[in-house]
Amino acid sequence: MIQLDNLVKKFGDLAAVNDLSLSIGRGEFFAMLGPNAAGKTTTIKLLTGLIKPTSGAARICGFDIQREPLEARRRLAYVPDFPFLYDKLTAWEFFRFIGEMFRLDAARYKKNSHELVARFHLSEFVDRPLEGLSHGTRQRIAIVSALLHDPEVFVIDEPMVGLDPQHARVVKDVLKERSLAGMTVLVSTHQLSIAEEMADRIGIIDKGRLKLVEDKTALIDRLGRMEAHIGLAQPIAEVPPALGTFHLELRNHGATLCYHAESLEDRQTGLARLVQALTHRNIAFTTIDVKQSSLEDIFVRLTGEGALA
Ligand SMILES: Nc1ncnc2c1ncn2[C@@H]1O[C@H](COP(=O)(O)OP(=O)(O)OP(=O)(O)O)[C@@H](O)[C@H]1O
Ligand SMILES: [Mg+2]
Repeated sequence: MIQLDNLVKKFGDLAAVNDLSLSIGRGEFFAMLGPNAAGKTTTIKLLTGLIKPTSGAARICGFDIQREPLEARRRLAYVPDFPFLYDKLTAWEFFRFIGEMFRLDAARYKKNSHELVARFHLSEFVDRPLEGLSHGTRQRIAIVSALLHDPEVFVIDEPMVGLDPQHARVVKDVLKERSLAGMTVLVSTHQLSIAEEMADRIGIIDKGRLKLVEDKTALIDRLGRMEAHIGLAQPIAEVPPALGTFHLELRNHGATLCYHAESLEDRQTGLARLVQALTHRNIAFTTIDVKQSSLEDIFVRLTGEGALA
């Protein structure tokens, strides 16, 4: 549904996007991550036709955004990081304008707009001029306006900036529902929790290049870590040699045994084996605190250690 072929965008000497190819399928939820100035927004602007590529092409549902913009745009929704709204209009007027632009028939427009306004808790704001509304309210209005025409492809740059937790939840739920119903979603975000919770696939972009594209679950399985802190009933002076096969470390003056599991097998079964081994040796414990590494840890490790260079 989204097809990027060898996209290049140069600003003077800087290749903001450098030979980027990517294909995102129907109903897929794709999260694009990357440090500041990596080229995320530029990629999105190329994909949505706001800027022209130096070379390469972007297609939406098979339509080239530069050569067949009307066909491509009809299927596309785009919410920029700083949405532009006509400030003098009310939300209702703005939605009607969008409905007319996409030539939605009256019944569909009415159904979609009323459902979305209710879902995004906008009823009390829709008759006020947009200029007086708070940032988060405007952001929700921008998202609703992008969903009105039932797009097949939904692209959003930093979806949750300015949204309170309750409304961030609504946005996540609606995007996930729509993606399960077949809408393709591309989000660019710094909030790794969004990617972790929502994405099917993750792409990491750095210096204009895609450094990694991987199924989210596979990525977490491959690079995740687990740490368990076991509170011992009696401090011990050293790790018993019989436990040498486990990656262990004593902390807290011998009162806490830390277990580090890195391989997928250790993360799945290591703690159970360790608990068995401790019980077997009559080493009593009172608490076990398990920390699974999140996508955030993985991302920081990947981008911090130069592992993607
Ligand atoms: N119109 C422009 N003119 C010149 N340089 C630009 C222009 N737009 C973007 N750039 C440069 O291209 C690079 C990529 O910018 P881009 O906005 O795509 O990054 P980003 O990944 O979205 O970053 P952020 O996380 O900060 O939003 C940056 O070095 C930026 O300065
Ligand atoms: Mg950006």
